[in-house]
Amino acid sequence: MRNKILLGLVLVFAVMQLFTIEKVKYEEPTANDLVNYEPLNSEVTELLKETCLNCHSNQITYPWYSEVAPVSWWIADHIEEGRERLNFSEWGNYSSGKKSHKAEESWEEMEEEEMPLPSYVFAHSEADLSEKEREILIQFFKTLEAKYKTKG
Ligand code: HEC
Repeated sequence: MRNKILLGLVLVFAVMQLFTIEKVKYEEPTANDLVNYEPLNSEVTELLKETCLNCHSNQITYPWYSEVAPVSWWIADHIEEGRERLNFSEWGNYSSGKKSHKAEESWEEMEEEEMPLPSYVFAHSEADLSEKEREILIQFFKTLEAKYKTKG
């Protein structure tokens, strides 16, 4: 009996592996990417890469466990939804109003510690920001919000 259950589980797991995810094609940053479009210092650029851009850009790098279902489905969902809502590679194409609004949402999400996603931080120690690092990014987004605020 127990062997059959085990075999059943192995089979289910094996079948799950047939449902692979569609990966986002990696594209080098263009002039429209936030990191090129805005004058950033290297510290902010580095922090953005480590904490946000792996879900909100066209530069996605996948960890090995993104090959293993069902974790792969979960990761693909995060990336799809994250990029749908906010893609920093499209930054230059956003209107001023949208830039300001997305920048505001970004610092708000960071203040509430909802971004980067806690599950991402769990798996990526480099995204586990210190108070100081979090504050640097929050200030960066606040400045960005103000920069585009009144321009419609
Ligand atoms: C693991 C992937 C992942 C990472 C890393 C990540 N996000 Fe997100 N982000 C998401 C997903 C998924 C959503 C949509 C669901 C939600 O809001 O929880 C989202 C939503 C958002 C939203 C809301 C946009 C809207 O229109 O509602 C903002 C703003 C945001 N993220 C900013 C950031 C910032 C800033 C960082 C880095 C500090 C970051 N995110 C890191 C996946 C991620």
